[in-house]
Amino acid sequence: MGNKMNNIIYFDNAATSFPKPPSVTQAVVEYMTEYGANPGRSGHKLSVRAGETVFRTRKKLAEFFGVKNPMRVIFGSNATDSLNLAIKGVLKQGDHVITSSMEHNSTIRPLKKMEENGIISLTILKGDEKGKISVHEIDDAILKNTAVVVVNHMSNVSGTVQPINEIGERCRFKGIMLIVDCAQSAGIIPIDMNRDNIDIIAFAGHKGLYGPTGTGGMVISDSFEFSRIKSLKEGGTGSLSDREYQPDFLPDKFESGTLNVAGIAGLGAGIDFINIYNDGITGIIKHKKELQDYFLTSAKNINGIKFYYSDEGPGVVSFTIDGMSVSEITTELSEKYCIMSRQGLHCAPLAHKRIGTFPEGTVRFGFSIFNTKEQIDKTVKALKEM
Ligand SMILES: Cc1ncc(COP(=O)(O)O)c(C=O)c1O
Repeated sequence: MGNKMNNIIYFDNAATSFPKPPSVTQAVVEYMTEYGANPGRSGHKLSVRAGETVFRTRKKLAEFFGVKNPMRVIFGSNATDSLNLAIKGVLKQGDHVITSSMEHNSTIRPLKKMEENGIISLTILKGDEKGKISVHEIDDAILKNTAVVVVNHMSNVSGTVQPINEIGERCRFKGIMLIVDCAQSAGIIPIDMNRDNIDIIAFAGHKGLYGPTGTGGMVISDSFEFSRIKSLKEGGTGSLSDREYQPDFLPDKFESGTLNVAGIAGLGAGIDFINIYNDGITGIIKHKKELQDYFLTSAKNINGIKFYYSDEGPGVVSFTIDGMSVSEITTELSEKYCIMSRQGLHCAPLAHKRIGTFPEGTVRFGFSIFNTKEQIDKTVKALKEM
């Protein structure tokens, strides 16, 4: 990973993965140095090549999420951007929405804003002690005007995984739309939108998919009537330029302005990297689970340590240590030991209320496939010294 990484232990991969695979950097540099043109805007060779790069990544993402039509992949700047588009794009005056206590603020805040503005009503399901919700809870919460269930596939605080397959089946049966936040799960848990009856997902390209920051998007399932989604912004698309109105076909309806081609090129390489990694996503899950188990076993004797994690969503482990504040722990880890982790509420206050760690929050380690057991040994030694 280059000499600059030698002394750094980076466990903040749930915020954004680092380092990126060399092939990702290479794809970004290739675009920046060889063909850095605007895709879909001009007919010249470089613009065409940029357009091909964007299309290739679109296609890879569609395959990755089990969608046949690549045009149903809508690029945005991150998961938040796409959650806003999905949520605000589909909800109408008078709709009722069901969500969970494990949501990130990227979901809760747009919903709360719409509730505050009197557009929607909202039910937030508590779930079990790890925030995992059940189909029965959903059944009990369904009202006549329930239009959408929005759920976080994998918690960025505790790794809690929601049973999206069962939720999808129930939503389909009841005629309720399902939006899934895959910011943490993409690249860690296999997702098949058709199999799981998911209408829309939002993903981050820069976490488990190993793409650059500034990448993410929304994917609309093959069967979902996309005219039900309003665009939140309009502008230049390079298509139908003679018209004063936004094109109503995909992806242009939702992609105004120049795309982050450098990032999208990198994201395409990130997906390739996952696909060719030892056994693909299965190998990634295995590696993360091994690291998680190793950390839990090695650190369990630290006085006053308490863990929050899930075996279903491996790689995200939160913890607290009695007698030390979470910011004391992460500051000392960073300053003294060069170990990068995150403290606090991780933009998910309701999740901390649910698992009992509000308002202080937790220290969070998010492992990537570049982390090793040796790094965990060093970290546990540091925690013991502290
Ligand atoms: C579960 C979840 N949803 C949404 C987000 C927002 O992702 P982004 O920073 O790409 O907008 C995050 C980021 O940490 C997350 O963990």
